[in-house]
Amino acid sequence: MNVIYLASDHGGTVLKAHIAEHLGPKGYEVRDLGVNGTESVDYPDYAASLAQVMLQDATARGILICGSGIGISIAANRFSHIRAALVTDVTSARLCRQHNDANVLALGERVTGVATAMECVDTFLSTDFEGGRHQRRVDKLISPQPVSS
Ligand code: RB5
Repeated sequence: MNVIYLASDHGGTVLKAHIAEHLGPKGYEVRDLGVNGTESVDYPDYAASLAQVMLQDATARGILICGSGIGISIAANRFSHIRAALVTDVTSARLCRQHNDANVLALGERVTGVATAMECVDTFLSTDFEGGRHQRRVDKLISPQPVSS
């Protein structure tokens, strides 16, 4: 696992740039899916771009950023192969990998400072899924029970 996809809306471009600079020297292949620039865009479009590329690459990880991290994480989790965790602290970054096998880290540029965000990124990328009882639960995320109307 060396490819890291990054995407954000206009509310996340500064933190996205910090993450790209942080990961480049660590040997990751960072692929920036945009947005680049300051125009106002719609975060679901960038969550969808990430979901599209991750469909082709099951081992890849993604990092999504918007202003709060909320909208872009909700958008990403509409796709059944994505488990996006909105994280604001290192413990959550660790647990989302150990227990939830999260494949996407979501961050809010207006919520989380750069230093904490980098710690979350490093923890997310270096922590393995524990499997065991958690696998059964993750399987249920991938194939949820049908709900009746
Ligand atoms: C954009 O202004 C902002 O709404 C977006 O970045 C995000 O915070 C939405 O959840």
